[in-house]
Amino acid sequence: MTSQPTPWRATVLTLFPDMFPGPLGVSLAGKALAGGLWTLEARDIRASATDKHRSVDDTPAGGGPGMVLRADVLAVAIDAAGIAPERPRLLMSPRGRPLTQAQVTALAAGPGPLIVCGRFEGIDQRVIEARALEEVSIGDYVLSGGEIAAMALIDACVRLLPGVMGKQASGTEESFSEGLLEYPQYTRPQEFEGRPIPEILISGDHAKVAAWRLAQSEALTAARRPDLWTRKAGQKPLGRGTKNTTDG
Ligand SMILES: C[S@@+](CC[C@H](N)C(=O)[O-])C[C@H]1O[C@@H](n2cnc3c(N)ncnc32)[C@H](O)[C@@H]1O
Repeated sequence: MTSQPTPWRATVLTLFPDMFPGPLGVSLAGKALAGGLWTLEARDIRASATDKHRSVDDTPAGGGPGMVLRADVLAVAIDAAGIAPERPRLLMSPRGRPLTQAQVTALAAGPGPLIVCGRFEGIDQRVIEARALEEVSIGDYVLSGGEIAAMALIDACVRLLPGVMGKQASGTEESFSEGLLEYPQYTRPQEFEGRPIPEILISGDHAKVAAWRLAQSEALTAARRPDLWTRKAGQKPLGRGTKNTTDG
């Protein structure tokens, strides 16, 4: 008898477990969840509160607005989740390292993370250190809680799991996979409001199509994301400089 591989797992600690699976329950991620290609466990942090009011937060030491998630309550919640040592322990946080496709790819290749969702003004620093939580940000803006950020991270990972996307190539040619933004896409009709599909894409010449797409990707990246372009420039000679069809 052959044993089934353990599916990729996401364990989420949240004050709002009812938010899950939410958007992760539909489309690609939802089908994969129903099909057992990954598993999701949303655990209620409040279940680890010990006082009769089941409180999870308190006022910030030193004063200031808002409330802070208590270290003792969250530590109990993390310990109760029984996370194997090889699983990453993440805390969604605007102070964290910005999430990248490279990190998503690495997370998708592993056993799947524990993800702590913050609320209020933040989380007591001592539990972040004591439970070695790695802070991860999904962008330079502030959400009201970590749940939507956790869903974004999980969705990005799940679509890379084997068997989730119809055609694996769709994960290897898209934005960020080669340090570039994706080239423009077109489909029928052949002409839309007087705009034809670029001639080269219907030429049937695969080499020319590939060269056109690369040039478009490079031009888009240089125009829109100089940070990515500079990084790419450090890796290989640049200078195709073909103008893309969407930016001047
Ligand atoms: C209102 S925010 C707290 C913001 C905090 N006072 C600060 O200035 O850094 C509440 C929670 O939302 C989540 N969150 C907000 N913005 C985020 C982002 N850009 N990336 C990841 N998580 C975020 C975090 O879990 C955070 O603890």
